[in-house]
Amino acid sequence: MNPPTFRSARLRNVTLAAIGLALCSSPINFAAKAADPPRILVLATGGTIAGQADPRATGAYKSGQITGEQLVASVPGLGQLAKLNAEQISSIGSQDMNDKVWFALARRIQQAFDKDEADGVVITHGTDTLEETAFFLDNVIKGDKPVVIVGSMRPATAVSADGPSNIYEAVQVAADPRSRGRGVMAVLNDKIEGARAVTKTNTTSLETFNSPISGPIGYVDTAGGVRFMAQTTGLKRGNYALPSGDQLPRVAIVYSHANMDAIPIEDAISHGAKGIVLAGVGDGNSSKSAIDALEAAAKKGIVVVRATRVRSGFVTRNVEVDDDKNGFVVSEDLNPQKARVLTQLLIANGMTAPGDMQKAFTATW
Ligand code: DGL
Repeated sequence: MNPPTFRSARLRNVTLAAIGLALCSSPINFAAKAADPPRILVLATGGTIAGQADPRATGAYKSGQITGEQLVASVPGLGQLAKLNAEQISSIGSQDMNDKVWFALARRIQQAFDKDEADGVVITHGTDTLEETAFFLDNVIKGDKPVVIVGSMRPATAVSADGPSNIYEAVQVAADPRSRGRGVMAVLNDKIEGARAVTKTNTTSLETFNSPISGPIGYVDTAGGVRFMAQTTGLKRGNYALPSGDQLPRVAIVYSHANMDAIPIEDAISHGAKGIVLAGVGDGNSSKSAIDALEAAAKKGIVVVRATRVRSGFVTRNVEVDDDKNGFVVSEDLNPQKARVLTQLLIANGMTAPGDMQKAFTATW
């Protein structure tokens, strides 16, 4: 059987309403007019959620094959949750996510909110870089209307595809008035995660998106609806401007390991990095030669941010590394890929002094 379309869902509603009126014996209260359904703008970017498998292949599939409109039309009951309008921003696997698509997303969302075209936005996205897009948008979108980013681990043609239920739940969250003021949220596998904390933790499992330090901010399921357990309002969310030219400054991530030398740092500098994020060991640490090279970089005016390759925990200033003396910034709770995004936005907004940058990194706990 084909999934119900918006049209058939509407027809069914009209028919049910007509039967209800005919059977109703009590006086009708014409003043009790049903509220208008929330208007949700769905912005599709590609990813596994829009992926299709070749029936002859075993596990292989191509992401970004199905349009946003087709995705929305394939989810039963979605039209009863909200009035939906789908637009295609890109059709890429999120390993190819880039500044151009980020800027297009940010501009379209801001326009939809400023012109009051939508009450909330749902973005369909590949899972590989979903957390970076969520955090980028969290830092540039103004206003308190909800933005929900959703992906899936299995392509649309898989047995037990998780996309339809994730989209349904994403629309539930975006359409809920209690979602306002919580910034960008990721919704997958019945959980609502905040943009700052969420990260992909498993390459294949449906249970992959987690917030290792803080846990989810809420839960959502079809029967129980939306349940918020925590606020994200205490966390700093920047209203940074988008730079002109559709491009963020170059910031490299350098991954630390045993036997670390200075070559990856020198390499980043020679390729024009304006900032370097260290995915350090432990508390954002690295070998003496790497730290010395980073100190030299900071002296040249390159922003140096110490993050950690460890999945959970904070990076704290001046523990084993003298950040004050070296002119370094620490990422606090932000993982290296999010520390990179914030560093890019700060540099793009003219902020490079370590003290100011540190304040921008430090969430108000
Ligand atoms: N490469 C992937 C991406 O679009 C597919 C993984 C996924 O979406 O789950 O991020």
